[in-house]
Amino acid sequence: MYKWANWIEGDNWQRLLAEVCNRLSFHRFEHTKRVVDVAKQLANHYKIETPIVMLAALFHDYAKELPKEQMRHILLENDREDILALAPAIWHAPVGAYLIKDIYPFGEDIFDSICYHTTGRNNMTDIEKVTFLADYIEPKRSYPRLDEIRKEAWINLDYAMYMALNLNLEKLIINDFLVAEVTVEARNYFLTKRSVSQ
Ligand SMILES: [Fe+2]
Ligand SMILES: [Fe+2]
Repeated sequence: MYKWANWIEGDNWQRLLAEVCNRLSFHRFEHTKRVVDVAKQLANHYKIETPIVMLAALFHDYAKELPKEQMRHILLENDREDILALAPAIWHAPVGAYLIKDIYPFGEDIFDSICYHTTGRNNMTDIEKVTFLADYIEPKRSYPRLDEIRKEAWINLDYAMYMALNLNLEKLIINDFLVAEVTVEARNYFLTKRSVSQ
């Protein structure tokens, strides 16, 4: 049986859903449920541990609606001044990971999937990629070129990640936003992987 399998069953899962629902606005909770659905389908498709992926997806935006000051406080408590230097839109990912780590016994794989769901990083695991991409391609998202990434997500996770990170970098640069170093590293990592496998 997969690790944490009992957490996604029956009342246990309903309790977790209720916990996340209480934290989020209606539209964000609906988004979260769609991300869980896509993550579950991708996990089945790639034969990845479904419970881990579903839990990571469920909690990926757990901190998204916290006040900025509270996020700042949690990052400082965890000695993450490095993240404070980045765009506040990114903060909710590591903040959510720290909050979930304090509440639940889940391990590093869920922590990292939540933590890097906006920036990506070098050497991402398949669980992290699926969480990132499920958030990126859930059915209500729409932006130019998303359909190509949506298709690729079912063919090759690495190449889909490369496409998604490139698109993110383009958007960050066009809008004059800071680019996190981990995102550049992640993009280069997937580019190199692609060149090696070609
Ligand atoms: Fe997010
Ligand atoms: Fe999200």
